[in-house]
Amino acid sequence: MRDFSEQNITAAVVEAFQGTPDPRLKKIMAALVRHLHDFVREVELTQEEWGFAIDYLTKTGQTCTEKRQEFILLSDTLGMSMLVDAINHRIPTGATETTVLGPFYVQNPPELPLGFDLGSGLKGEPLYVEGFVSSTTGAPVPNAIVDIWQSDAEGYYDVQRDDVSGSRLRGRFRTDPQGRFYFWSIMPISYGIPEDGTTGEMLRATGRHPYRPAHVHFMIAADDHETLITHIFPEGDAYLDSDAVFAVKKSLIREFTKELPGAAPDGTQIDRPWRKLTYNFGLEPLAMERVA
Ligand code: BEZ
Ligand code: FE
Repeated sequence: MRDFSEQNITAAVVEAFQGTPDPRLKKIMAALVRHLHDFVREVELTQEEWGFAIDYLTKTGQTCTEKRQEFILLSDTLGMSMLVDAINHRIPTGATETTVLGPFYVQNPPELPLGFDLGSGLKGEPLYVEGFVSSTTGAPVPNAIVDIWQSDAEGYYDVQRDDVSGSRLRGRFRTDPQGRFYFWSIMPISYGIPEDGTTGEMLRATGRHPYRPAHVHFMIAADDHETLITHIFPEGDAYLDSDAVFAVKKSLIREFTKELPGAAPDGTQIDRPWRKLTYNFGLEPLAMERVA
């Protein structure tokens, strides 16, 4: 076929993918072409805007390094990451809701004993976190791997700071025979996502702010269960209703209670006010287990 027009080019391009051997890839390519072409038609994209988009995506790729993934940041701020998460986690009753992984997770954080203080020596209000991990069947999950990561009192993760080498405010705990885990940290604060790349350019051009409400990240993995990736947000944060990455869910907001100096639940004597977070996490059994 020749002489493609505004009217017939979409069908012709979709047709060109008809021979794709993988049916899933064929479906994805056809939908991608249709939506892309409809988008161009809807906004009547100019030649200059098309050129700008090519430059923008090129710069986005060039911003990526081993420690920086600008495409994920862009996906997060466009709500795409949360949409993919929602479609892939239509969870059963009793399972904790999921949210974005974010760019600051580091594989295999240091294994730490229960009660360890991740915030030792750091600025910030002491925070005691106690959690209980159970299956949606109600059974406690012992020996679950609980990875934690969070920002410091200035709103930065260890991997963002040149003055920090190694892990800080991150670690791996294992639940005890009753499915419990506990540790000390510091209160997280709200922070701005990195703004020095193309994502920041988009936020500024559209009058959007870069802030995320304070949160602690959790990744919980256990045999025979789906791995849970989520965060818990302190109630009252100013950005709960305008998270730059659309990741807040009501069920993930908790009061981080204000506690007076004295004895903490793990026996620690603390001589200044501190905060406490208690959260029960529900894990979804793997599909095979649910069927069995
Ligand atoms: C985070 O919470 O670490 C995060 C998530 C998405 C984008 C940027 C940061
Ligand atoms: Fe975060």
